[in-house]
Amino acid sequence: MKASPFSLKGKKVLVTGGASGIGLGICKGFARLGCSVIVSDISRTAGEHAAKLLRQKFKVKSAYIHCDLTKATSVADLAASAKKAFGRVDILVNNCRAGQPKPFDQETEGNWDLNLDTMAKACFFLSRGILPLMPAGSSIINISSVLSYAVGGEAPSYHVAKAAVDQLTRYLAVQCGSKQVRVNAIAPGFIVKEPHLKRFHSKASDEYRAIAHYAHPSGAIGFESDVANAAAFLASDAARFVTGQVLVVDGGLTIQEPFMLLHGLGSKPVQRKRRRG
Ligand SMILES: NC(=O)c1ccc[n+]([C@@H]2O[C@H](COP(=O)([O-])OP(=O)(O)OC[C@H]3O[C@@H](n4cnc5c(N)ncnc54)[C@H](O)[C@@H]3O)[C@@H](O)[C@H]2O)c1
Repeated sequence: MKASPFSLKGKKVLVTGGASGIGLGICKGFARLGCSVIVSDISRTAGEHAAKLLRQKFKVKSAYIHCDLTKATSVADLAASAKKAFGRVDILVNNCRAGQPKPFDQETEGNWDLNLDTMAKACFFLSRGILPLMPAGSSIINISSVLSYAVGGEAPSYHVAKAAVDQLTRYLAVQCGSKQVRVNAIAPGFIVKEPHLKRFHSKASDEYRAIAHYAHPSGAIGFESDVANAAAFLASDAARFVTGQVLVVDGGLTIQEPFMLLHGLGSKPVQRKRRRG
């Protein structure tokens, strides 16, 4: 029987910032599908813990490789260590983030550099460094954000870095095309991560939670697994004709007319009002 184009069994995956948050969710998603996973992160303790968890829970090969993505030498070392550990990389996920969510008047040069270095610069240099390890049919997935095109509460440099990630995605897709390597991005919206679930569902968050549900057309909330599932699709042969694209995974949050949303928020409990005209 022909293998499903969605199958990823046996693929070798490298995820940056894979020790926690969405990165860890992506690692778990690929491990659940039978992939071997390199968890790369600046945090050794969390990274080793994550790799152990993947081995124990999903019975797959997994290793932690230390990397500080702000340092070019560390990025080069990561590519060399990945080659030593797995021989090849079928799927690279540039997921890491590091800067702080500073408002307009509190942005600093250090935070600017950190955001641009970990998200845009590392995305380019690591992708270029890993490319020689990627056989035909491989895939690079960059984690962007809806803030690459919409304005939100993150730092100015975060918005700029994510816009850079989207354009890098198209640039790399063209450059890697002749090697039969596809490059795509995922732009998540509002994601409630596992460590925040308890607070999100607490009584104190009733109003915040109601707004979060209201802001999404179906009322659905996004989790790490939603980003992981999108990554699995983009990495699979089912997406063989998809490259250079930014897939928005936001439950419809950013497709709505803001006036209609704000108008509906005038009543309590928060409900969607029917839109006129
Ligand atoms: N959380 C959201 O709601 C959301 C929404 C849209 C997009 N995103 C994007 O998803 C990705 C993951 O976000 P997250 O919220 O899970 O982040 P996070 O802060 O929870 O995790 C980031 C990981 O990167 C690691 N890291 C930090 N600095 C590093 C460095 N210099 N070198 C290597 N690793 C380093 C951290 O140790 C951590 O494990 C980011 O690209 C982020 O912009 C997140």
